[in-house]
Amino acid sequence: MSKTPKPGFDNAANDPGEPRIEGVPVSLTVNGQAHTITIEPRMTLLDALREDLVLTGTKKACDRGECGACTVHIDGRRVLSCMTLAAMQEGKKITTIEGLEQNGMLHALQLAFIEHDGFQCGFCTSGQIMSGVAMMEEAKAGWPSAATADLRHPFTPADLSSAEIRERMSGNLCRCACYPNIVDAVAAAVARS
Ligand code: FES
Ligand code: FES
Repeated sequence: MSKTPKPGFDNAANDPGEPRIEGVPVSLTVNGQAHTITIEPRMTLLDALREDLVLTGTKKACDRGECGACTVHIDGRRVLSCMTLAAMQEGKKITTIEGLEQNGMLHALQLAFIEHDGFQCGFCTSGQIMSGVAMMEEAKAGWPSAATADLRHPFTPADLSSAEIRERMSGNLCRCACYPNIVDAVAAAVARS
């Protein structure tokens, strides 16, 4: 059985008789802190965050790009960290759910999730919130979605109807079916921002 390299990948620790795997160093900034880690080249960003940097707020659910539980921001854009190689993040700025709070204050969307009961088990919640925060920025930047009926005018956050929020959050699944409350939470955070 082949051995899976563990956190703190050590080039010298390859098993004799197994194909040699060279660890690769990668320097990245996570939640404002610079890190240089040596990783197995096939390691996903999700595994590097959870196993090497012990940032376990980002959840592994499907591990195949289908549920959104692993959503983080790379240079301000939302990505599925289970579908992203850590070795490709050299020099990138990553934000995880642990990095949203500023000076002890939760992000407006985190507060709105609490106020609107946007979760039950909470397993999807960090991904929902990271996706929602990026979605609000995309709306501010004027990005339309598949639900945008009128493309003649630049999109604004005021155009974020329920249908728009549902469409823009459709990559984030919730097995507890908290969708109505999640939409309410996003709408409340948009109204406050
Ligand atoms: S764990 Fe990444 S999309 Fe499901
Ligand atoms: S709150 Fe349980 S999966 Fe979403």
